[in-house]
Amino acid sequence: MSPSLRMQSPPAQQCDESLRQPTLIAHHITLVVVNSAHSRLRLASSRSIIGMPRQRRAERKGQNLNTPPSTALEPEMSSTSHKALFLTSERGTFELGTQPTPIPGPGELLVRIEAAALNPLEWKLKEWGTTIGLPRGYPAILGVDVAGIVVQLGEGVEGFEKGDRTVYQGWWSNDKTGFQQYGLVDARYAAKVPSNISLEEAASIPCALVAAIAGLYVPKPHGAGLTLPLSPSTRGKNAGQPILVLGGASSLGQAAIQFARLSGCSPILTTASLKNTDFLTSLGATHVLDRTLSFPALQSQISQIIQEKGKPLGVVYDAISEPETQQAGYDLLADGAGGHLVLVLPEQITRKGGEGKKNVTVGMIYGHWEHPRLSEVGVEVHRALTGLLQEGLFKPNRVEVLPGGLRGIAGGLERLKEGKVSGTKLVVRPQETE
Ligand SMILES: NC(=O)c1ccc[n+]([C@@H]2O[C@H](COP(=O)([O-])OP(=O)(O)OC[C@H]3O[C@@H](n4cnc5c(N)ncnc54)[C@H](OP(=O)(O)O)[C@@H]3O)[C@@H](O)[C@H]2O)c1
Repeated sequence: MSPSLRMQSPPAQQCDESLRQPTLIAHHITLVVVNSAHSRLRLASSRSIIGMPRQRRAERKGQNLNTPPSTALEPEMSSTSHKALFLTSERGTFELGTQPTPIPGPGELLVRIEAAALNPLEWKLKEWGTTIGLPRGYPAILGVDVAGIVVQLGEGVEGFEKGDRTVYQGWWSNDKTGFQQYGLVDARYAAKVPSNISLEEAASIPCALVAAIAGLYVPKPHGAGLTLPLSPSTRGKNAGQPILVLGGASSLGQAAIQFARLSGCSPILTTASLKNTDFLTSLGATHVLDRTLSFPALQSQISQIIQEKGKPLGVVYDAISEPETQQAGYDLLADGAGGHLVLVLPEQITRKGGEGKKNVTVGMIYGHWEHPRLSEVGVEVHRALTGLLQEGLFKPNRVEVLPGGLRGIAGGLERLKEGKVSGTKLVVRPQETE
């Protein structure tokens, strides 16, 4: 055991949570807990359930793994702890450990996490350390793209039942993130997953969804200020608005393309590896441009397409936001034409002459429903999401399921870091963790 883990002193407001932080032991679960003898007994007694492979547990209970009825979930809830993957400290390592299984408070759901998707943010947090105030203490459980099955409801929850399949964005508290086997969520920010979508596919959605909403629909100068197209009456309100999505094959890019389509934007141009052309066209892109084009070549192709339509580029959504894409996005917006550039990483644009273009706005998004600019609309979005998915109006990313449950995360994050994942979301199944 690393003594440094026990010496972490989290901020005062996290005191309660920190009291329940587990001991971490690399690569195997040894159920020793520093907190109290009582906890030690509780964890030791739960080991026979959580330490057994999922298949064997299921066989013992006569359970079919393909059908997760709510009654079959009850025995699981006798566990008081579950497996979780911890980032041990700032720029630390990922280690498997145990986390007390929380009890849902008023308005909350306890979810058995069946799928958690990986995001670039997680390798950045590991390599670069805490950014934008996240995570809020160590050891930290990461994971913000989550899907699973409701196993317990807090007081006053409406619209959910035990056994419902649900998807949500992880919140920054160890009880509410995704790289573990159980988690809590505020039911207002959870949506039911319709039967045409697998839980693995569902897990690819949350971060990309909130990032698309934040960039396209929050009023200027923070977002592009388009009309949110959640219902038939608000769909297509930005008809004929030309938009460019830089990095259409990224998760964020795919979501931005689809919402641009729902808003009626046209043409919808995007940059990507050309092997992704058919895929991105199926999501709504009207023109897929080679991401390796030089800036002058890109500019020339875009102006040809735009000129035919007779309207200037109004929105550039830069889903990549590397220095070159940011500069390209900014330079492509016409001076004085009222365009908006969405950034997903901090701004690094050089403005010629220092002043910049007139009437062009640039806004970096913070893609989380907890942000004051998004918390209200987030409730509305989650109410609408099930229908959008059911009707095929919004599609999840393509997914690749990594083997090994939570143990597959570290390797998956390496692949993301090396840029080796194209047009796909990497997903793990925490319940498969041995
Ligand atoms: N601000 C926020 O709230 C927020 C939220 C979530 C994510 N982010 C950030 O947003 C970025 C994207 O995240 P993500 O999860 O969507 O990434 P992702 O799905 O892992 O992105 C991978 C894709 O990026 C594309 N790509 C890479 N470089 C490109 C370039 N120069 N031009 C065009 N396409 C390029 C590749 O496209 P091809 O396969 O076509 O080559 C690849 O498919 C990350 O930096 C992430 O940290 C920010």
